[in-house]
Amino acid sequence: MPLAAETPTAEDLLDAFCDLRHERFAPAEFRVKWANEPWERREAYALRRAVFCIEQGIFPGDDRDAVDDRAQLIVAAVCVAGMPEQVVGTVRIHRESEGDLPDLWYGSRLAVHPSFRRHSRLGVSLIRLAVGSAHALGCRHFRAHVQAQNAALFRSLHWRDLGDEALFGRPHVRMEADLAHYPAIHDPERGFATFSRRDR
Ligand SMILES: CC(C)(COP(=O)(O)OP(=O)(O)OC[C@H]1O[C@@H](n2cnc3c(N)ncnc32)[C@H](O)[C@@H]1OP(=O)(O)O)[C@@H](O)C(=O)NCCC(=O)NCCS
Repeated sequence: MPLAAETPTAEDLLDAFCDLRHERFAPAEFRVKWANEPWERREAYALRRAVFCIEQGIFPGDDRDAVDDRAQLIVAAVCVAGMPEQVVGTVRIHRESEGDLPDLWYGSRLAVHPSFRRHSRLGVSLIRLAVGSAHALGCRHFRAHVQAQNAALFRSLHWRDLGDEALFGRPHVRMEADLAHYPAIHDPERGFATFSRRDR
């Protein structure tokens, strides 16, 4: 079932969650790119609602907020014949003015469909494009409020801890990326391909 165009109900989301089109075959290729097509944005928001509202129960109904009005969405999509076909991962980035930090950017709402977690390094690829594309736009500090259970993943990707915090009643760690490990990515609309590790 394609993800619904209208705002889906919880039942629609669970259907979409369980009836992932590409579970019927093993995708070999994914594209990680800035979302610039309406279907990419629609599916990214539906995936976020499924993960953050239904799976994690952090937000009731819809996780979208004012940041989405100025954030850039990024997606990881399953490719069929080399073309992006269905969103299975997402993150968003936005620039923030905070204190005296120039060119501070944030990443948030990182989510990979459960069927594709620890599958083909989609989380790592989304983080790479998030930080690399902000770097290309002049970012000098890239931060995130990372759920505590994911802090080890970010540390392994050259992020440092800035302090523990509670957000939405859950333990988080404020973290900052070491930009030396994230070369600028100048063509984020095209992004890059990444390949399934399941075939290796
Ligand atoms: C966090 C999340 C985005 C990671 O995505 P993913 O696609 O599964 O991660 P990757 O496959 O890119 O992981 C890369 C490596 O880190 C490891 N890893 C993944 N999640 C990890 C975690 N939470 N802690 C430690 N290591 C982790 C993987 O095993 C993999 O190791 P390998 O290369 O040796 O096989 C995904 O688990 C998710 O969507 N979780 C629910 C939403 C969520 O928690 N979002 C908030 C993020 S702050």
